Amino acid sequence: MTGKIVAITGAANGIGHAATLRFAADGADVAILDREEAPLLALAAECRALGRRAFPLIADLTDRGAVKVAFERIATEFGPIDVLLNNVGQSARDRASPFWKSEPGLWDFIVDVSLMAAFTCSRQVVPGMRERKSGRIVNITSEAPFTGGTGSVEYAAAKAGVIGFTRALALEMAPFNVTVNAVGPGATRTRAADGWSAETKAKLVAAIPMGRLAEPTEIADAIHFLASDRAAYITGQTLLVNGGRIFN
Ligand SMILES: NC(=O)c1ccc[n+]([C@@H]2O[C@H](COP(=O)([O-])OP(=O)(O)OC[C@H]3O[C@@H](n4cnc5c(N)ncnc54)[C@H](O)[C@@H]3O)[C@@H](O)[C@H]2O)c1
Repeated sequence: MTGKIVAITGAANGIGHAATLRFAADGADVAILDREEAPLLALAAECRALGRRAFPLIADLTDRGAVKVAFERIATEFGPIDVLLNNVGQSARDRASPFWKSEPGLWDFIVDVSLMAAFTCSRQVVPGMRERKSGRIVNITSEAPFTGGTGSVEYAAAKAGVIGFTRALALEMAPFNVTVNAVGPGATRTRAADGWSAETKAKLVAAIPMGRLAEPTEIADAIHFLASDRAAYITGQTLLVNGGRIFN
């Protein structure tokens, strides 16, 4: 990854944070986007300490105008993006409810952050990748499209959308030597997991053949592989990283 420019959305915490450090440790310069300023600036400092260039951008990734401005700044002030990681996303968390009681405002929020942000950010990088005939896009989905789940109808639908988006864009970009793949993490030890009750966590762990949650670094390793030269002939795929819980 030496000298490559990797853009990572939702980089300040969790999987995005681990992926940023994985890329930086392998020689990449990183453009990191998040709405949380303090952890984002701390991450940029960590990457610089590894000898990499880092360009932190504070933006709400559901704001299309702000995304456009941020990517224009990356292109002019940092350089052309070789790898885009569409990581930002979330489930309804403490606002989760069964569908019959759910609010359309919540659907919009989840679809915006978990699906449309990937559209908006990809739209900014795809023309340049097409022109340069090289590039990698990795999208983060989840197990939800495969398992469903009570109280997560909008999240399962949005993340299923990410898989369809990945496949269709992979076909469009294949003639231009650009690969588009998805990674579907199982339950991963990020701050989302901090909000789970002991009972919920125990239930989740009991369903995982490996008997533990994923570490963010383990998801980052899969992302890094799909973004690397070693994955040149893999496109349109969804790789589940889930301790064997379900198969794709
Ligand atoms: N943690 C899990 O168990 C798990 C499982 C499957 C899939 N995922 C997916 O992995 C991805 C990362 O999840 P995580 O657990 O690392 O989350 P996290 O909450 O730890 O980190 C998400 C980051 O995104 C940022 N963010 C959120 N909304 C934003 C917005 N509108 N604009 C800018 N930044 C925003 C947050 O500030 C945060 O830094 C998500 O797409 C999530 O759906 C997570």
